[in-house]
Amino acid sequence: MWAKTLFLINAFAGAVAASPRFPMHRRQSDLEAFIQKQTPIAKQGVLNNIGDEGSLVQGAAAGIVVASPSKDNPDYFYTWTRDSGLTMLGVVEQFLNGDSSLESLIQAYVDSQATQQGVSNPSGDLSDGSGLGEPKFMVDISPFTDAWGRPQRDGPALRASALISYGNSLISNGKDSAALKNIWPIVQNDLAYVGQYWNQSTFDLWEEVQGSSFFTTAVQHKALVEGNAFAKALGQTCDSCAVAPQILCFLQSYWDGSGVVSNTPTNGRTGLDANSVLTSIHTFDPEAKCDDVTFQPCSSRALSNHKRFVDSFRDIYTVNQGRGAGKAAAVGRYAEDTYQGGNPWYLTTLAAAELLYDALYQWDAQGTLTVNDVSQAFFQDLVGNVTAGDYAKSSAEYKSLTAAVKSYADGFVSVVQEYTPSDGGLAEQFTRDGGDPASAVNLTWSFASFLTAMDRRDGTVPPSWGASAANEVPSECSGETVTGTYATPSPGTW
Ligand SMILES: *[C@@H]1O[C@H](CO)[C@@H](O)[C@H](O)[C@H]1NC(C)=O
Ligand SMILES: *[C@@H]1O[C@H](CO)[C@@H](O)[C@H](O)[C@H]1NC(C)=O
Ligand SMILES: *[C@@H]1O[C@H](CO)[C@@H](O)[C@H](O)[C@H]1NC(C)=O
Repeated sequence: MWAKTLFLINAFAGAVAASPRFPMHRRQSDLEAFIQKQTPIAKQGVLNNIGDEGSLVQGAAAGIVVASPSKDNPDYFYTWTRDSGLTMLGVVEQFLNGDSSLESLIQAYVDSQATQQGVSNPSGDLSDGSGLGEPKFMVDISPFTDAWGRPQRDGPALRASALISYGNSLISNGKDSAALKNIWPIVQNDLAYVGQYWNQSTFDLWEEVQGSSFFTTAVQHKALVEGNAFAKALGQTCDSCAVAPQILCFLQSYWDGSGVVSNTPTNGRTGLDANSVLTSIHTFDPEAKCDDVTFQPCSSRALSNHKRFVDSFRDIYTVNQGRGAGKAAAVGRYAEDTYQGGNPWYLTTLAAAELLYDALYQWDAQGTLTVNDVSQAFFQDLVGNVTAGDYAKSSAEYKSLTAAVKSYADGFVSVVQEYTPSDGGLAEQFTRDGGDPASAVNLTWSFASFLTAMDRRDGTVPPSWGASAANEVPSECSGETVTGTYATPSPGTW
């Protein structure tokens, strides 16, 4: 992410020669012991990077999530709306799971976003919503004014989702008025932004290419669906939410029959990109079926894409020698990547695991698993004798398939274990030839991704966002938008 090297995409491709030597994989303690040790480190790793009490981010305003303490090569000492939304959604999840000590931090985040929305910046300002597409700010919430890949239209959607998850918990505790007064005004701006701008081009989540991005489209759809329900619960209306079916319609256009082409234009890449795996885990709905249209984790589309995505890294990273088809591997953003060495990333390898844990949850909840012509290649790598069919939970086939998927998923966590340094600090990347931590140290998103993956592994899932009632694709797609109205929110009184 965060590369300014937009036009250097292929400059270093192929620079890493495959070594003929089978690498010695490092000895490691068992997986459960690693998870036990790493979980509190990851929780603290997130908190260390949030102002104004985070120990590694002095100068950050209260509630501001800093991407990493790294101030040079690369300089990530900023707050990104996307990373913050994803991180805080995870923090809210921990709060919902019983860690009440996090509530004041969540409220500080809400308040910080009320301030941030009103800050004029190079993407624009709040009067027409355009300023909401600004990807990053200084850690004191002043604007970042250098050249950058802007706008990035996933940020408002992800922030809305984080705020809605906390808002819904207030509502279910009878605190509707706090949700209405302190959260709804911010969410309303973000939903209006999505409804107005979803059909305009964006920089992708890696900040490199401009066009349409699968991840952005999908999280926009989710935000409008859950935003509409949130509005209703508060006695409000969301006119912009009416375009959700058209966003879903557009989402279908990224599917190529066996995988997701994550960006259009493709800029000469295959399109296989962690963008798509992150999409399925961040639009996972525990109450949904294995729905192809919303690319649910257990859908045939998500599984086929998972295989193609993971396979694209097997032959290009030295650390993956000995990790052939059906074996978990180190994965990065996309095979053509060269940014900061174009290495595997912790958060993408964890996302590969998380998608499979989500799928296991969904099969278990439905009591059945389907193998069809789209998903068969994925399953065949894991269980050679698989044939297409619907397998009930009581069947031997179901048991052999789900056991294989579980151990495949755990394998990705074991890969992360192998390349995690002894102090548990998770950088952005680990080197493709030696597995050493690389690029930004202690990346907030790396820690956050560890925590959600481990929650899913335990069967701890987020609330439904209503995917099952929002999966009807219009027969014809249109680029319909709704012009929004925007108002400057005030920091809350809690
Ligand atoms: C706008 O929507 C239409 C209809 O789905 C689609 O063909 C077009 O590519 C979209 N453009 C952008 C930039 O989203
Ligand atoms: C594959 O074969 C094994 C051993 O005979 C059997 O236990 C298992 O159920 C089979 N799996 C599938 C998916 O057919
Ligand atoms: C990164 O986090 C680890 C684990 O908490 C810590 O030991 C280390 O000091 C941190 N590194 C930096 C440079 O902040």
